[in-house]
Amino acid sequence: MLEVRDLEVAFGPVAPLSGVSFSLAKGETLGIVGESGSGKSLTAMSVMGLLPLSGGRITAGSIVFDGQELTTLAEPAYRKLRGARLGLITQNPMTSLDPLQKIGPQVDDVAVLHLGMTGSEARARTIDILGTLRIPEPQLICDRYPHQMSGGMKQRIVIAMALAADPDVLVADEPTTALDVTVQAQIIRLLDDLVKERDLALVLITHDMSVVAQTCDKVVVMYAGRAIEHGPVEAIFDAPQHPYTQALIGCIPKGLSDDEHLTGIPGTVPTVLNYPTGCPFHPRCLRAEDVCSTDRPAFVQHGQSAAACHFAGAAP
Ligand SMILES: Nc1ncnc2c1ncn2[C@@H]1O[C@H](COP(=O)(O)OP(=O)(O)O)[C@@H](O)[C@H]1O
Ligand SMILES: [Mg+2]
Repeated sequence: MLEVRDLEVAFGPVAPLSGVSFSLAKGETLGIVGESGSGKSLTAMSVMGLLPLSGGRITAGSIVFDGQELTTLAEPAYRKLRGARLGLITQNPMTSLDPLQKIGPQVDDVAVLHLGMTGSEARARTIDILGTLRIPEPQLICDRYPHQMSGGMKQRIVIAMALAADPDVLVADEPTTALDVTVQAQIIRLLDDLVKERDLALVLITHDMSVVAQTCDKVVVMYAGRAIEHGPVEAIFDAPQHPYTQALIGCIPKGLSDDEHLTGIPGTVPTVLNYPTGCPFHPRCLRAEDVCSTDRPAFVQHGQSAAACHFAGAAP
């Protein structure tokens, strides 16, 4: 359904994203995981054709959706795909919701625009979708304004809008980051159910490895604008090859005791202006040797997963 190959994105002379590849079938969830600033949102914006809005452009690679190359698609054609066949859910629901308009008409508009429904057909569909998303009293909700709803409810409405035209691919960019933990879990479960019920292809972007473990079929781990490891979720968790992936997994709280020491990865993610040479992770990597600062590691297949590390496959 979606195949991204060697994607590179540039803003003028700087290229904050390069060498990102993944593929996704219907009924599958792909996790894109990495710390803030690793290039996850740029990847999402590239797939949605929204980079030009921020002045970015795709300078290499390809994005094929259902057999169609998207990197060369003209904006009017892209606009038809967006919303209709490619749905986007962002971290902040208020980037998608109009604060001045009631919920009902906002969701109705998607089906009117993309499916050519009449207003009343669209409303019936809206109520049906809100019900699917376990929103109580959908009729009443249609007459509310966004500010009258909780963060979790607003995010459900955004999901409803993304689903209204029956898309094939849903890109969810940190859909639960702004929500509290219990609501997060509900939204993640909801997305998981939707993938199965609607045979969706879901790209789930998160900085949270435990979300990946719960929901994803496969994973791309990103660091400093590059994919550094990818593979099926079991392989990534059972035998992570890249020290960065190992560190991310090491940060998942085990929840065994109250005084559990929460670890982070020492150091900070480099910005696009100081991406390291060689392996981008080498300044923070406990296993780095000289070669890591000079030579960019190629992907090495190890079992079912592949990692870009000079020492992938070696014992940690
Ligand atoms: N409009 C832009 N112009 C220049 N650099 C950008 C722009 N947007 C993002 N970047 C840079 O690209 C890198 C990746 O950003 P992003 O994809 O937003 O990361 P993430 O979503 O993983 O937190 C960051 O270093 C960021 O500073
Ligand atoms: Mg982001």
